[in-house]
Amino acid sequence: MSYVSTGIAGLDNILNGGIPAGNTVILEGAPGTGKTTLGVQFLYHGALEKNEPGIYVTFEELPNQIYQEMKSAFGWDLRSLEKRDMIRVVCLSPETFLDQMTEPNGLVEQIIRQIGSKRLVIDSISLFKLAAPAVDGHRKSFYSVRNILRKFAQTSLLLQEQSAEQSAVIPFENYVVDGVIRLAMKGHLQNYRKRTLEVLKMRGTRIFEGEHQYKFTGEGIHVVPALSMVEDKVVNLEQTTPTGIARLDQLLQGGIPDGTAFLIDTNSKANHKYMLASIFASQLKAGKKVVSLISSLGTVQDVENGLSLFDISLKRHIRNREIFFIEHFKRPYPAEYADVIIDVSDLNNEEYKPVVREKLSPIMAESISRGEKWFVYYDLNTVFSQRGSQFVSRFFAEEIATAKAYGLTVVTLCNFAEMEGEVASYLERSCHGVIKTWVDGNYQYLQLTKSPNGVISEPMIVESSNQMPYVSLV
Ligand SMILES: Nc1ncnc2c1ncn2[C@@H]1O[C@H](COP(=O)(O)OP(=O)(O)OP(=O)(O)O)[C@@H](O)[C@H]1O
Ligand SMILES: [Mg+2]
Repeated sequence: MSYVSTGIAGLDNILNGGIPAGNTVILEGAPGTGKTTLGVQFLYHGALEKNEPGIYVTFEELPNQIYQEMKSAFGWDLRSLEKRDMIRVVCLSPETFLDQMTEPNGLVEQIIRQIGSKRLVIDSISLFKLAAPAVDGHRKSFYSVRNILRKFAQTSLLLQEQSAEQSAVIPFENYVVDGVIRLAMKGHLQNYRKRTLEVLKMRGTRIFEGEHQYKFTGEGIHVVPALSMVEDKVVNLEQTTPTGIARLDQLLQGGIPDGTAFLIDTNSKANHKYMLASIFASQLKAGKKVVSLISSLGTVQDVENGLSLFDISLKRHIRNREIFFIEHFKRPYPAEYADVIIDVSDLNNEEYKPVVREKLSPIMAESISRGEKWFVYYDLNTVFSQRGSQFVSRFFAEEIATAKAYGLTVVTLCNFAEMEGEVASYLERSCHGVIKTWVDGNYQYLQLTKSPNGVISEPMIVESSNQMPYVSLV
């Protein structure tokens, strides 16, 4: 399958590469949404950048008008492309057009052959209804238009007016074509309107669902895909440790890059136990040393049970001094754990950090100097409930700075909904990756909303499984 680049910034990303070659696509929208601009931009880009000639069929405007408008608004010189047979502007009545399309070797066929056209835009098919008023005649003529476009493998945009009343009924044309792209204008913030583009269907390619905003610029239409992807250039993406969850590792191109900080944002209903155990187990299997905060909801026994599902013996790692725990609740531990438990339950907020440092720094410093790597797990919900939001934002800022300096990999569990907006957005900004998981109705979802490689996922369903890692993403 080959994809035709649209030339519209951002749109090819939403289409996963472009419009599948030869597809007939409806571009619908209310008056003034930008259909004509997008259609001409598609042809202009093809002619100028891709060496693909194209035809613009218009029923409304005269060629001179279009040349002028496009030149003054976007600097597109259609006239010179027309002279080079890279673009042909065809201005006729819808009746003549339909006649010519149904006739063997009609006008449009001739032009397609003449210039070797690859792209075609019709502005607009809404006028077909007037040209062939009987429902039957109208449908027939629409089918013949589509068949000719297919026969000549024209990747085409058929522009369609859409009024507010119409939008509830899906026109039959939308079923017949390969793709539908909708432009819309909506109320936005106060006193503003935003323009949105949505791909409702596109045969032959995966689409990036949702409404994406676009703007008019001096170079034409510019679409900004929702949750836009920005790669973190500072992070070394070469060394990664898998999460153990196949789809997530695929999205992260291997797993969590060593030395980065990830947040898992989860509400209390969502089950994050297996994902967390899987991440933990993979880090241990990769030879990392671990520091883990013991949450208010679970005990070391729970951690041990979770890890045993992944064939990890916690006791062995404890005996080898490869894992350390921070205890906030003064819970009792068997004697063999004494060396690896750091009890902070009696410490106030000022004492907390120096005491933890004093215990761990010598061990970590010596190990890091030997080239060993560390994995740190926090449950910020526990820190938050025990020590307050002020402490969380200050504590976390320092922790992230330290982690970055020493190349530690950090995974932090938290619940954005329970944090103050400012703290939540601070956390989100300071981390390299954010994984959200939540329950809605009878399903649990998971979405990668930020990652160092810039990949962002759609919401995926978390399905449980009876094999390692006990969850999979669908
Ligand atoms: N450079 C620009 N900056 C801001 N807005 C612009 C710019 N160029 C065009 N527009 C807006 O785009 C609208 C026209 O876009 P276009 O003609 O492509 O829309 P259309 O969907 O084809 O409309 P119609 O249904 O009337 O044919 C104008 O009404 C104008 O508001
Ligand atoms: Mg128009």
